Amino acid sequence: MDRIIIKGDIVFTPTKDEFQVYKDSYLVSEEGKIIGIFDELEQRYQDYPINDYSGKIIIPGFVDLHLHAPQYANMGLGMDKELLPWLNTYTFPEEAKYSDTNYAMEVYSELVKDLWRNGTTSAVIFSSIHKGSTELLMDLFVRSKIRVYVGKVNMDRNSSKELTEDTYQSLKDTEDIILRYKDNSSLVKTIITPRFVPTCTDELMDGLGQLALKYDVPVQSHLCENVSEVEWVKELHPNLPNYSSVYNKYNLFGQTKTIMAHSIYVTDEELELMSENQVFAAHCVNSNFNLSSGIMPVRKFLNKGIPVGLGSDISGGHSLSIPRAIVSAIQGSKMIWLDSDMELQPLTCSEAFYLGTKGGGSFFGKVGSFEEGYEMDCLIVDDSNISNISRFTLEERIEKFLYLGDDRNILERYIQGKIVAEPK
Ligand code: GUN
Ligand code: FE
Repeated sequence: MDRIIIKGDIVFTPTKDEFQVYKDSYLVSEEGKIIGIFDELEQRYQDYPINDYSGKIIIPGFVDLHLHAPQYANMGLGMDKELLPWLNTYTFPEEAKYSDTNYAMEVYSELVKDLWRNGTTSAVIFSSIHKGSTELLMDLFVRSKIRVYVGKVNMDRNSSKELTEDTYQSLKDTEDIILRYKDNSSLVKTIITPRFVPTCTDELMDGLGQLALKYDVPVQSHLCENVSEVEWVKELHPNLPNYSSVYNKYNLFGQTKTIMAHSIYVTDEELELMSENQVFAAHCVNSNFNLSSGIMPVRKFLNKGIPVGLGSDISGGHSLSIPRAIVSAIQGSKMIWLDSDMELQPLTCSEAFYLGTKGGGSFFGKVGSFEEGYEMDCLIVDDSNISNISRFTLEERIEKFLYLGDDRNILERYIQGKIVAEPK
């Protein structure tokens, strides 16, 4: 039986309200799942192998609920436009390059390594429209042993010529990928990915919704990110009450597990529907700053019981680091607090940490926490260059790591109870 014990200063958030901390304790796992946390090892675990990280922090691996793999080369570029001109000027031309699988191999290899480096152990990813490059990306993840959903993007209107798919072919390629990866890996899975309403005909969305139901495959897309985008959707669907109802009409809004990125300008009715259908919101705060999109009022979502996680949304976002997203989410929530006459309370540190671990992780199942039965996905953090361990509590050390640390503080990544080596 696969069993491992790791020892160190353990921190996680079973609820968003506070950090649970276990100083100098043992995290016991079997078959890649958490058994429990102990301050002293019971007799029955005496012969389990122990990896001793005394003095280091052990936290759940980070979860990125939204990013675009074929935008990786554009990361940190093209920050001078709003969403729609940004897509046409920078994003679509870059994504068109992924018809070439050699280019895909080169850049996707760098991306996978960078995700690993940043301690992202689970991610939900858009690829491009291209079947070959999408499969290549999935195969890279199978080899790297990082937990992912990857979606081939679907778009059959309002795109550049190179990125406009034939509707039938788009559905066929999507179904082929679903079938090929159905029972292929416990870590790498398919997700249905209509880019967003403006680039998808009714026929395409209808077909995708049917595929989602037929194969019980989850769905991801974009929602209410930008004012011009929301107006455009209204023009395209004048007879539907709002943006969310378009997805909902086509079984793409929680009929199977669903993530909507951004969700900044959702109305109260849409919030209600997200709550009812338990649609996940991917809060992509750095992207929303960079593209002058706005700030999602996270507190409203939490108050309504809508599941929320964080997304790097590269290359709208400029960093794969989830700690950076955690800090920005806290900062953004303070601006929302001011704007709401101090009604919507800012996120606390434990709340934002929860969003970047268990909040997003719950899309995958039991991921992002150290409760019994959870996947044993964790990071070993050496914060000795940040905090004098004798001076700070464990809660203070984790806060300092989030604000001041970076990938160089991450010593080791575990997924399913195994150390994950740097991808080649
Ligand atoms: N909406 C539709 N496509 C995209 C994209 O690639 N990035 C972002 N941020 N929003 C989108
Ligand atoms: Fe996005």
